[in-house]
Amino acid sequence: MADLENRIYCLTDKFVEIYGVPPQAMVRAPGRVNLIGEHTDYNDGYVLPIAIDRDILIGGAPSAEPSVCLYSVNFDRISMFPLDDIRRDPVNDWSNYPRGVAYMLQKRRKKLSGANLVIQGDIPLAAGLSSSAALEVASAMTFQALDGFEMSGPEMALLCQAAENEFVGVNCGIMDQFISRLGRKNHALFIDCRTLEHEAVPLPADGIKVIVADTLKKRGLVDSQYNVRRAQCEEAVSLLKTYLPGIRALRDVTASDFRRYGRELPPTVRRRAEHVITENGRVLESIEALRQGNLALFGRLMNQSHESLRDMYEVSCRELNALAEAAWRIPGVYGSRMTGAGFGGCTVSLVADEAVEEFLERVPAEYRARIGVTPSVYVCMPESGAEVLMNEPQEA
Ligand code: GLA
Repeated sequence: MADLENRIYCLTDKFVEIYGVPPQAMVRAPGRVNLIGEHTDYNDGYVLPIAIDRDILIGGAPSAEPSVCLYSVNFDRISMFPLDDIRRDPVNDWSNYPRGVAYMLQKRRKKLSGANLVIQGDIPLAAGLSSSAALEVASAMTFQALDGFEMSGPEMALLCQAAENEFVGVNCGIMDQFISRLGRKNHALFIDCRTLEHEAVPLPADGIKVIVADTLKKRGLVDSQYNVRRAQCEEAVSLLKTYLPGIRALRDVTASDFRRYGRELPPTVRRRAEHVITENGRVLESIEALRQGNLALFGRLMNQSHESLRDMYEVSCRELNALAEAAWRIPGVYGSRMTGAGFGGCTVSLVADEAVEEFLERVPAEYRARIGVTPSVYVCMPESGAEVLMNEPQEA
């Protein structure tokens, strides 16, 4: 908290230095880790992420110009765009997220007024902790605070996802933007990615920690195999439709349907579909396990999820396996798995309090011995989703 206050203070200072006035509004939007339900969102399936205590802060004030000026504290760069002709900035990649959000807001909802923004974040970049989704959501919240329009949380999440799909050009699902906007403190969020129905599921307040370990292997979603996996899932659906005409997505294929018809699929496509179908089942079981306080079962489901992502979906890598395996060897670790899109990024582990110290000593040491790099490790708290921290419109 003291840290957040300090960041707000520094951001305000920077704002005054650049624009000569203090910000009118200040918002924050968090990054996320997904506890279970990986590569299910774009199959209309289930996910169970938490928002984390790492976030993007944006300070904003109206400007008289019909344009938006962005300053990034992290990159120490300015990027500016006119509201009547929003294009991608090929140099300042980071600015394409707020640009995309402004573009989508104007396309779908309303004409925006000009604004001056300062952006600062403490979510590690390209680590699979959804700094991009957080930047989109924080941008949308800032435009909303300054322009004062109504928009529900799910609608804002969808708008930010559309900005990423259509403007930035990354074909992501809905999970990251949804949890960044709608996460709840001390809870995981169970999301049905078809209906967008969601339910906050409490995590035990005492006795466990969520630990995120970063391989430090950078992974760009755009260049990765993400789109190939999506296409394979679509192929599975179109082939299975011959036998199951009512299905729209892998979400609609039951385990028993799959036992009957799965063998009709080519081997690679079959493995991809098997992951998605079993993973959806694991999410539903996990929620029951959490409701019953059965952390041992929850942890086993996390481990199975990792194995399925490694062997069936084939999106893990040496580094992620090394981190998960090191965690599995520690008594008191309920479960550990890769989280996010894969091919690098982070693992998430559910760890009993009394095992945290051993985890923090042994996992980085074993990873260093195998991979030659010291991973970053964060003990995370499930935080609330995006919020307006301050909004004080000035008299005209
Ligand atoms: C990325 C995407 C999400 C989701 C995950 C995999 O984080 O942005 O929409 O598909 O990968 O579960």
